Amino acid sequence: MFSGKNILLGITGGIAAYKTANLVRLLKKSSANVQVVMTPYAKEFITPLTLSTLSENPVHSEFSDEDTGEWDSHVELGLWADLFIIAPATANTIGKMATGLCDNLLMATYLSAKCPVFIAPAMDLDMYKHETTKSNIIKLKANGNKIIEAQVGELASGLVGKGRMEEPEAIVNQVEEYLREGLPLTEKKVLITAGPTVEQIDPVRFIGNNSTGKMGYALAEKANELGASVTLVSGPTTIDATKAIERIDVKSAEEMYNAVHDNYKNADIIIMAAAVADYTPQSLQENKIKKSDAALQIELKPTKDILASIGEVKKDNQLLVGFALETNNEETNAKDKLARKKLDLIVLNSLNDKGAGFGFDTNRITIIDKNNKIEEYELKSKSEVASDIFNKIISLLK
Ligand code: CTP
Repeated sequence: MFSGKNILLGITGGIAAYKTANLVRLLKKSSANVQVVMTPYAKEFITPLTLSTLSENPVHSEFSDEDTGEWDSHVELGLWADLFIIAPATANTIGKMATGLCDNLLMATYLSAKCPVFIAPAMDLDMYKHETTKSNIIKLKANGNKIIEAQVGELASGLVGKGRMEEPEAIVNQVEEYLREGLPLTEKKVLITAGPTVEQIDPVRFIGNNSTGKMGYALAEKANELGASVTLVSGPTTIDATKAIERIDVKSAEEMYNAVHDNYKNADIIIMAAAVADYTPQSLQENKIKKSDAALQIELKPTKDILASIGEVKKDNQLLVGFALETNNEETNAKDKLARKKLDLIVLNSLNDKGAGFGFDTNRITIIDKNNKIEEYELKSKSEVASDIFNKIISLLK
C-alpha cells in the first residue's frame, strides 16, 4: 500500500516521539518515501540525526537555515506529501491545528498540505480528557483530519489512563486500511500460484523448469496494490514478496495442489501462473542414484492438473484465470485449455515472442475470455502486464 508513496511525518514534543524511530523504519520497510518535519521541542525527545538516518532524508525543523539563510519551503513539503502523519500530536499542537496558529515549520506545513492528514494524539490523561482538547479533536475531525485514537496505559507521569500514543505498528495498519478503502479489489481475496515446481528424483536431483516466478509475483504485488488480500502459493524462487502478501512455499506439484485446495474456497479470484510439472518420478529414490555406463531410465507418472481440478469445483462467483505457454498453434491450444479447464480467462504467452516468457522482466500476452473474445497487448514490463490482466478481471467483476 505504501510503495512509492510520499509520507511526511510530523513529530511534536512529547515523550512518545522516541517511538517515531520505529514508525519511520516501518514506513521505509513498506517502500514509502519518508520525510520528517519536527517541532523544536520534539528534538529534546529524539535527535534529527536518528530520523534523517532512518528516513534517508534531511529532517526539516526551521523556516530557514541559520548559516546560509536558505528558506526551507513548507509549501513544497506540504505539496510533496501524499499523506501527512502527525505523531505524536501534543495537546499544544492539536490546539494550534484547531485554530490555525502557525508559529513553527510543522504548523506552516500542515496549513499548506493538501493531502489526507492523520493525527496520533499523545498526552497525559487529564489533558486528553479536558473539554478544550476534546472540542479541538472534534474540530480537527470535522475539518477532515483522521484521528488515530490514543490508547489506555501507563503514561510518562506514572498515571494510568487514556493518552498513550498508538503503537507504530497500529498507526501503520490504520493508515494502510485507509489507503485500501475505495480500491477496486478491496474486500476481494485473490489466490495466485507462481514459480516452478520441483520434482525430486533422489536426495540430490530433481526435475524443474525455467520459470522464475516473476509474472506470478508481479500479479500478487498488483493485487495487493489494488486492495485485495492476497495468498501466493509459490514454488522455489529467489523473489521476495511484500509482507502484506500471505506466501505459502511449496516445492512439488503435489504440494502445490494441496496448498491450492486448502485455500481456494474463500478466494474470489484464482490465478494460476505457476509452471507446474506435468510429470513426476514414479517413485523417489531413497539414496543417490549411482553413475554407471548403462543408459538410465526414470519412469514418470502424470501430476494432477491443479487448474483443471479447480475448474471442476469452483463456484459461479469465483473467477478462474489460467496461463498458457505455447510454442505452436498458440490461440487454438489456448482456447482449448480455456474450455477444457473451465476457465473464465486464459492468458496466452508465446515462447516465440522476443522478450516474453521465462526469466524476462517483460511479457507479451493475449487474453482470451469465455466468449472467445481475444485481446492482444504490446510487449510490456511484467508489472504493466499484471495491470492489464487485473483491468480485464475487474471489468468482469462489474
Ligand atoms: N497447470 C496446473 N497444473 C498442472 C499443469 C498446469 O495448474 N499440473 C496450469 C498452469 O499453472 C497454467 C495452465 O495450467 O495456468 C496451463 O499450463 P500449461 O503448462 O501451458 O499447459 P498444460 O495444461 O500443462 O498443457 P501442455 O503442457 O500440454 O501445454
